[in-house]
Amino acid sequence: MSTSIPQPPGVPLLGNIFDVDPNNTWWSLKTLAEKYGEIFQIKVLGHRIVFVASAALAEEICDEKRFRKYVGGPIVEIRYAVHDALFTAFDHEESWGVSHRIIAPQLAPGTIATHFDEVVRCTDELITKWHGLDPENRIRPLDDLNRLNVEATVLTLFGKKLNSLTGPEHPLLRAMEDSTSEAMKRRIGQSCSLAGVRWQAQEGDKTMRTFAAELVKDRQEHPSERRDLLWTLMNAKDPETGKALTESQVIDEIVSMPIGSSTAPCAIAAGILFLLQNPDTLVRARDEVDAVIGDGPFRQEHVSQLHYVAGLVRETLRLSCAAPGFNIEPIPKPGDESPVLLAGGKYQVAHNQPMIIVLAGVNRDPAVFEEPLAFRPERMVGEAFEQLPAGVKKWFGNGKRECIGKHWAWEFLMVVMTKLIRGVDFEAVDPEYQLKQDGWFNIRPVEFYVKLKPRRR
Ligand code: HEM
Repeated sequence: MSTSIPQPPGVPLLGNIFDVDPNNTWWSLKTLAEKYGEIFQIKVLGHRIVFVASAALAEEICDEKRFRKYVGGPIVEIRYAVHDALFTAFDHEESWGVSHRIIAPQLAPGTIATHFDEVVRCTDELITKWHGLDPENRIRPLDDLNRLNVEATVLTLFGKKLNSLTGPEHPLLRAMEDSTSEAMKRRIGQSCSLAGVRWQAQEGDKTMRTFAAELVKDRQEHPSERRDLLWTLMNAKDPETGKALTESQVIDEIVSMPIGSSTAPCAIAAGILFLLQNPDTLVRARDEVDAVIGDGPFRQEHVSQLHYVAGLVRETLRLSCAAPGFNIEPIPKPGDESPVLLAGGKYQVAHNQPMIIVLAGVNRDPAVFEEPLAFRPERMVGEAFEQLPAGVKKWFGNGKRECIGKHWAWEFLMVVMTKLIRGVDFEAVDPEYQLKQDGWFNIRPVEFYVKLKPRRR
């Protein structure tokens, strides 16, 4: 006998439309996960969506023999901008495999390591900028971290130095925000302002695609020895089918990368907050960084020796839920429309039911973590980390559709966090500030301001 999946009461006809804030969907889902626990559902205008918020159920629906990525809702909307690129390709599209096999070697650990010095240089530029600020200035760290992320992504993957850490914000940042926010809002049905919002998104899509096309043109006009992702997208062939990417697909994949990587600065901004709220973890991290790197330059081989900082980054990914979730559906079985059983039959969902994993619930599952809201890097180090169930390690998604940029992200997070720990003293403008997040495909701290100065030794 299965248990019915909990659902907030809602209103006639419109269902649960008022249970989800269209301007802050993920925060509403976090609140619902806190109230309803491991699984819940909402119905909006006749559509049912099921949300999974426990580690055990997340692990179960990450079984690729039974389930796959659901390309629906806002992800389909992103296809306006990037068509059948990696992130948005349907399971049946051949283009996913072709692009994946072409791109993956460029984002593998060995290749990422070759970009280490470039990431360090970009981070040094940010730290120089921050060291030069009046210590009484209040800044929103996310703004500059977003700039740093675009700077480092475009330099490492496409070989172009934008010099965008100072001066006016690079137009790519506004364009990514407009394009992705519209995708979420459209799907949640904020129809009143749809026309205006879609126009904004089209402008955003155009800006991103023009930027990508200029990168390609620039490389064609100035060929270089550099064998980076841009070169690969423009020249490589899929080893399996022999196919190359079309011009439009090259643009799609270029545009997808900064959108994907924009999750990393959100995590780092939350990480700064966690360090401020837990000064003892900062002391421990500084001790480790000083012991491993000392006064010399930060080198790539140091990264794997920074065990506590690695735990701190993982704990930041767990608690920030910077990528807030991902979508799953049962793999269709032709001719079989019987319900899908979850938790050994405790719950049933329809054979074609989309489900969303809400990491705000999964990553704070009290069945796995003692004091789940506490920031404890040590639970993410060595054997303690190894022993955690797979369901709570899904910050980069799952299986074949797992984040292809995860090694890039890991190096970026390790470099930036290490350099901030090593060189900057932060002070919260509001010492009582509690994490509140908003965002679309990534979530970021709202109204989190700091003052900063060079580290006092
Ligand atoms: C902290 C940083 C990051 C986090 C937490 C993160 C998280 C994720 C998650 C959860 C997915 C799966 C989405 C889904 O199933 O629908 C994903 C996919 C993806 N990410 Fe990331 N990501 C990060 C950084 C990056 C970076 C740096 C890049 C590019 C350089 C990137 C590019 C992508 C792409 C292209 C996909 C689609 C992969 C596919 O379906 O084949 N991400 N990411």
